[in-house]
Amino acid sequence: MQKLRVDLGDRSYSILIGRNLLPELGGAAEKFEFSGKIGLVSNPTVFKLYGATAAGSLIKSGFEVEEIIIPDGEEYKSLASMEKIYEAMLRAKLDRRSALVALGGGVIGDITGFAASTYMRGIDFIQVPTTLLGQVDSSVGGKTGVNHPLGKNMIGAFWQPRLVLIDIDTLATLPKREFLSGLAEVIKYGVIWDEGFFEFLEDGKDAVLGLDGEALTEVIRRSCEIKAEVVSRDEREAGLRAILNFGHTIGHAIETVTGYKKYLHGEAVAIGMYYAARLANVLGLLQEREVSRIRALIMAYGLPSELPPGIEATDLIPAMELDKKTVSGTLKFILPEKIGAVRIEKGIKPEDIRKALSFRGV
Ligand code: NAD
Ligand code: GLY
Repeated sequence: MQKLRVDLGDRSYSILIGRNLLPELGGAAEKFEFSGKIGLVSNPTVFKLYGATAAGSLIKSGFEVEEIIIPDGEEYKSLASMEKIYEAMLRAKLDRRSALVALGGGVIGDITGFAASTYMRGIDFIQVPTTLLGQVDSSVGGKTGVNHPLGKNMIGAFWQPRLVLIDIDTLATLPKREFLSGLAEVIKYGVIWDEGFFEFLEDGKDAVLGLDGEALTEVIRRSCEIKAEVVSRDEREAGLRAILNFGHTIGHAIETVTGYKKYLHGEAVAIGMYYAARLANVLGLLQEREVSRIRALIMAYGLPSELPPGIEATDLIPAMELDKKTVSGTLKFILPEKIGAVRIEKGIKPEDIRKALSFRGV
């Protein structure tokens, strides 16, 4: 088992990564001063696969478990679902020293964290992510929240978990497309922070795609380590943390104009990363061969890299301007200067963005 630390003063916490860790959940939870009741939040898909093991482990450690199941899907990351979670918690008489456990992907993690942040003015929660995206990104760093009909992730809070428990064996049941989508965020860490990790992903493709335990553990460990380092330095995104949004300005715009139907989040981010690299090249910041290397790695992991026919800069730029990361109408891009280092750029001319977005088939 690997153990990492997210350093945030009295809100610091551990990330445990390993095989067959789910049966250890109860023992890990016992170390905190929770009262006897735990709300286990999940969806039917994940609960059917892992609910009994998670609940059984908590019960064995003496906790009373209230199962709180919300339907599967991004559309249920909503205020209506929050209300159902609060109601279940109140009916089960969870108190200020009770805790929640999020068992599922990013949707369950985000909504459970937000429920924990607001129930009785804030209670503890544990993240047990079961998607690759959850394990390398959303379970770490304390961004929690729900969607609003007028915008994704618009309502939320920074609320750190007390523990992140990552059982890599849960990835065995994850649909391949979801797994590949999570790998886009992994590639992101290589580009923004660590060329050695990028090389590891280039060389280790077959092992990673073959779900080799050692390779997967390293992929998740290093991704969490980089995220923990960035979050420890800038918890509330005053500056540095924005680099985690590499590929996301264009990626979010692609999700918006395609109505969140055509692409999974990571797939849109993969396209966004390629075009952000392309934009860096248009601006003279990044060499052509580095752009090609980034694109080759995205493609090696079976992810899309190019805008589909019919989607043009004229569709994407207005969507980017509406993004919540846009401050006072200024577009912000995270641009690589080389593999392993990025800079935050504002005030880029629309014609440069248009030029970058016009690239196809190169
Ligand atoms: P998800 O939670 O919808 O999970 C994807 C699908 O996989 C679901 O159908 C789920 O039921 C299923 N699933 C989960 N684990 C499984 C398993 N082990 N076996 C089989 N099926 C399994 O999607 P996601 O990609 O994990 O998360 C996306 C969400 O994360 C978005 O709402 C996004 O906004 C959020 N997010 C948050 C952060 C953050 O920092 N908080 C970062 C990135 C993304
Ligand atoms: N997923 C981006 C962040 O946590 O800041």
